Order: sequence, then structure tokens, then C-alpha cells
Amino acid sequence: MESLPLLFFPFLLLLLLFSASNSEEFVFNGFNNRDLQLDGVAEINSNGLLILTNATKYQQGHAFYKTPLHFKSTANGNLNSFSTCFAFSIVPANPSFGGHGLAFVLSPTSSLQNTFPAEFLGLFNSSNNGNPKNHVLAVELDTIKNPGLGDIDNNHVGIDINGLRSVAAAPASYYENGIHGYKNLSLISGEPMLVWVEYNSQEMKLNVTISPLTVTKPSLPLLSLTTNLSSIFFDSMYMGYSSSSGSMRTSHYVLGWSFKMNGQAPALNPDSLPNLPSKQIPKKNSGLVHKLLITGLAFLIVAISAITYVTVMKIKYAEILDDWELYQYQHLRFSYRELYMATRGFSEEELLGIGGFGRVYKGKLRISKTEIAVKRISHDSRQGMREFVSEIVSTGQLSHRNLVQLLGYCRRKGELFLVYEFMSNGSLDKFIYDETGKKKLNWNQRLSIIKGVASALLYLHEEWEQVVIHRDVKASNVLLDEELNAKLGDFGLSRLYDHGSDPKTTRIVGTMGYIAPELNKTGKVSTCTDVYAFGVLLLEVVCGRRSILQEDYSNSINLVDWLRKSLRRRTIMESWNAEAGSDIKPEEIELVLRLGLLCSHHSDKVRPNMRQVMQILEGDLPMPEVSDASSNL
Ligand SMILES: *[C@@H]1O[C@H](CO)[C@@H](O)[C@H](O)[C@H]1NC(C)=O
Ligand SMILES: *[C@@H]1O[C@H](CO)[C@@H](O)[C@H](O)[C@H]1NC(C)=O
Ligand SMILES: *[C@@H]1O[C@H](CO)[C@@H](O)[C@H](O)[C@H]1NC(C)=O
Ligand SMILES: *[C@@H]1O[C@H](CO)[C@@H](O)[C@H](O)[C@H]1NC(C)=O
Ligand SMILES: *[C@@H]1O[C@H](CO)[C@@H](O)[C@H](O)[C@H]1NC(C)=O
Repeated sequence: MESLPLLFFPFLLLLLLFSASNSEEFVFNGFNNRDLQLDGVAEINSNGLLILTNATKYQQGHAFYKTPLHFKSTANGNLNSFSTCFAFSIVPANPSFGGHGLAFVLSPTSSLQNTFPAEFLGLFNSSNNGNPKNHVLAVELDTIKNPGLGDIDNNHVGIDINGLRSVAAAPASYYENGIHGYKNLSLISGEPMLVWVEYNSQEMKLNVTISPLTVTKPSLPLLSLTTNLSSIFFDSMYMGYSSSSGSMRTSHYVLGWSFKMNGQAPALNPDSLPNLPSKQIPKKNSGLVHKLLITGLAFLIVAISAITYVTVMKIKYAEILDDWELYQYQHLRFSYRELYMATRGFSEEELLGIGGFGRVYKGKLRISKTEIAVKRISHDSRQGMREFVSEIVSTGQLSHRNLVQLLGYCRRKGELFLVYEFMSNGSLDKFIYDETGKKKLNWNQRLSIIKGVASALLYLHEEWEQVVIHRDVKASNVLLDEELNAKLGDFGLSRLYDHGSDPKTTRIVGTMGYIAPELNKTGKVSTCTDVYAFGVLLLEVVCGRRSILQEDYSNSINLVDWLRKSLRRRTIMESWNAEAGSDIKPEEIELVLRLGLLCSHHSDKVRPNMRQVMQILEGDLPMPEVSDASSNL
């Protein structure tokens, strides 16, 4: 009897620890239906763009996450670590003058009242600015130099505690991983940019990093401040944005936002961020002086160009070709000039998309007229590049009707280009998550896509000379050709992170929602982790929705868990909610749903291998029964 409480003790302790660890997390790629509390001129437009100020003078706008978050542990009152990332854009009416800026803010209240616009950024007023009772932490993106507030220039990032006189500030710039230096940014360029605000409560380090939207996160922050925020923060704080305009009409936008307590904020997906309102083209001044000036300038430019043409061409098309490539990979080499011509100078009009690894352009080879897709990846041409190129390029030898064929590659200083066959129907995610309902797949098409992807994975796992693990199976990596045949793309690219330009980004390869539980724990990829991701993909294809639904953060639904519950309640067939085609076969749908759940089973021991998956799909192997006990939720 006496030993009973003792037995319970570790369990209780565990329970306590568990309840004390706060892991609040969200990702908003755009703010459609997100619960933000808005005031002032702030509004969310129909595309999900958060507009804090809208090109009206002397305005302010606030947007706060609707509930406060617990920044201190309920168990011991210690401050949590946190990390957040947001995408913003500042668009002034006159391209050379903006004002005043925007700030990410943590505050005890979500109704900032009696605050002033202009240099007060909607955060404080003239009497409470700098008051320690404010308990406000802000990261300002300030576009006006105000000497009265100690501003360093008209384009800076600053950390503000309780007031607008920044405790740390630096001109807006980002560490460029390749060149080992900071590169200047113009906050009022109108270009979307990312800001990371990260706090480690043990080290008492508050880091702020800014970069253009399209580059990978810089390995060094812009600002790194040692400060114990414990006395600034209350147990729970509101988190959001504040912005103001002054005498210059300027719009301040926030495009997306992610946050995680006690961990790394998830990355935003540049592809799904809302578009910015299209710019108004300023009327051209057609005065005589203007014309003369332009003609003169043009003449000068022509003269200079003529002289330097040859030199420039040499530099423009310069490539890197190392000895080791000459022997092994010569046949896969494309010249940069060829790719440049094919994509019309990597023109924005040819841009097919922006992915985690870089931009993808459509192109047409001059001589053969073959259509291609060129993936442009920036990299550190340091160690690991050779290994990476040889690995990626050796996948050019893989050939299977359900794999996107790599046609070749090209290397320049700081850039790698991968050339693939062009897939006219784009990626599968555009079809299955399509909210506009324009792109539809009927059941037979869905089943054939599933079988295609399964067959590609079987080839990679078992049928080639060596085992190839894809590492990033997901809907956006499945491409469809003219006849909607599925082809798996991007294999091996996630290795780029392993050979990594930046050893500090020990990031788990894969994409949220597709990561097997054991991968989260051990970080080790295997064929089983591919099978897991395939299982999730399969469920998404059948149900026509994302694996993680974040309609509203507090109600986020995990598709796998939800389906597993409905399987036990025997209501699984109700989850088939895709557009009803005339060709629906309930037995097939149920089989595929069950198979998806088996593949995405939390235990890798229970998951089938890809050969068994193929056999089950073809009806050559019965569906194994998994007891409820082992699917233990
Ligand atoms: C900006 O917002 C204000 C207040 O909501 C509104 O009166 C004004 O018309 C808006 N201006 C523009 C250019 O949208
Ligand atoms: C500044 O804000 C505080 C807090 O809301 C308020 O009490 C005070 O009256 C305001 N001061 C001015 C000058 O508006
Ligand atoms: C970057 O901006 C800083 C501050 O505005 C300036 O001093 C520096 O010269 C700029 N560097 C370049 C390369 O333009
Ligand atoms: C902040 O940046 C420094 C490098 O300057 C790094 O050592 C530290 O781990 C970073 N801390 C956080 C919380 O990101
Ligand atoms: C920060 O300050 C609080 C009290 O103000 C203290 O309890 C805590 O230990 C401090 N944190 C660190 C890392 O020193």
C-alpha cells in the first residue's frame, strides 16, 4: 500500500512538467479569417493582406492577436523563450519618401488608446513615451530620422523598450551568407521583407533579423541585445503590430506571421502570401527639358555600352566549372548563356513559382525548342557544394515515368541552376487545395496520381542501384504533365540543408504536417519517414484538403488524427467531401483512406513498405487489419 503513492509520483511529476511547458504556435500565410483585433485605420482586405495604414496622412492602425499569450511559466514564473517571423511591405505614395514606419509590439493591452501617429508609431504619446510602467517591447522599422528620439537614420531597425528611444538600432541590412557582409535594404522599397524576432530567455538574448522575402534566413542577426525581459513582461501579453503615417502618404502592410513559444517559429510560405495591391504607374513628365535629358543620357549609355560590351558579356555569362566536374558531369552541363536566353534573362514573366530552395523559371531551349523548368538556387560556394552537386546530378541518371527528369545543371558564383523537364499542369497542391474550384480532379484521376507517386517511391526505395530517400514528399512536389500524369520532383534537394551553408540551421528536413513523429525525435530520415509523408499526401488527395487546417488557430485540425477518429467511429466515409464525380467508387475510396492511415501510422513498425503499398493499391494484397490498441491515440 505504501508503495502506491511512490509509484504515482514520477507520473505526477511528468504531468506537471507537461502542463508547464507552453508550446503555443501558429502560422498565418495571409490573414483570411484570422482572429486579429483591429483598430484605427487597420483592415484586412479580401486577399488576406493586413493593411495597417492606407496611404492617408497622419493615421495609425493596430492589429493584435485576439488572445493574450502566456509568456511566463505557470509553474515557476520563469520567462519563456519565443520566436516569431513576419512578412511586411512599406509602400510610400512617393517612392523616395516614406513615413513613419511600423512596429511589432508586445503589450499588456490590445487597445492602445491615446497614442499618437507619426513619430510615435501609434505606440505611445508625448506624455507616456519612455515610462517604465508601459511594459511594452517593440521592434520598430522606422523610415524617418527623428533626432529628438535619437534616431540614427531614416531607414533603421530598432529595439524599443517602453519608449521610442531605441535601446539598440542599426541601418536596415542583412547578413548575406555568401559574401560574409551586411547588405543594405531600403525599407520603403515596397519589396516584401521578412523580420525574425527571437528571444532566448536562458541566454537573455533578443535577436532581430531582417531580409528580403526571397533569400534564406541570414545566419547572423542584425541586432543581438542581451537583456532580461522578465521585468518588462507580464505573465500574459498581447502581441501584434502598430503603424502610423505622417505628412507623407504611406501604406504599411503585413503579409504573413508565424510564432512559436519555446521553439523556432515555422517558416512562412512565400507562395501563399497575399499579393500587394498593384502599384499605380506615375504619369510621365513629357516636358522638353525632360526629353532632352533622356536623349542625352541615352546617347551616353549607348557610347559606354559599345566600349564595354565585350567585357560585360564575359562577366555576365561567367560560370564556375571545377576540374572534378569536367570528367564526370560534362554531359549534364548547361551554359549559363543558354539558360539566360531560354528564360529571357530570368524574366519575372517566366517565373513559375518561388519555393523553399529558390525561384523556378519557365524556359525554352533555343535550338531544340524543348520546354524546361529552371530552378535557381543561391548557395555558399564553400564546402559541401561538390558533394551536393554530385548527389543531385547523379539523380539525373534516375529515370522513371513518375519522376520529374533532371536534364542538367549549371553553376555560377553563389548560384546553382537545375534544369528539369517542364510540367504543363503545375503542382498537385494547386488542384487539391484549390479554393476557386477551377481545377478539379475526378476520382479516377486522383487514384491514378496516387498510384503514380507510389510507383515513383517504390523505384527510389527499392528498384534503383541504391536506396534513395526523397525526404520531402508533399503535394507541392508532385507535378502533373499534360495528361495529368503524376511525377515526383525535388528529390534530394533537402540535402542542401545537410551539407548546409549554415551549420547552425539544424533544421528537420521535410514540411510541417508531413513529418513522421520519429523524425521529430531522432532527426533521422528513412524510407519509413517517406512512407509516412506519402500516407498524409494520400489522405489529402482523397479529402481534397490540407493535412493541417488552420482556419482558426485554436481550432486547428490535424487531418490524420481526425480521420483516425472517424475510422473508429465508423464514419470514415463521410470524410470524402471532394467534388462528387460520377465515377466515385466507395470501396476504392475506403481502401485508399485506410491505406493512408496505415502509412501515416505513428509507429514506423506498423507502416507498410512501398512494395506492399503498391500491392494493396493493385488489389494483390489484402489490407492488413490494425487493431485499435496499436493505433493508440
Ligand atoms: C483609408 O482609411 C480611411 C479610414 O478608414 C478612409 O477614410 C480612407 O478613405 C482610406 N483611404 C484610402 C486611400 O483607401
Ligand atoms: C497618454 O496616454 C496615457 C495612457 O493611455 C493617458 O493617460 C494620457 O492622458 C495620454 N497623454 C496625452 C498627452 O494624450
Ligand atoms: C549602407 O547604409 C549605411 C547607413 O545608411 C551607409 O553608411 C553605408 O555606406 C551603406 N553601404 C552601402 C554599401 O551602400
Ligand atoms: C542570437 O544571435 C547570436 C549570434 O549573434 C547567436 O549566438 C544566438 O544563439 C542567437 N540567439 C537567438 C535566441 O536566436
Ligand atoms: C531575469 O530576472 C528575473 C527577475 O527579475 C530572475 O528571476 C531571472 O533569473 C533572470 N533571468 C536570468 C536568466 O538571469
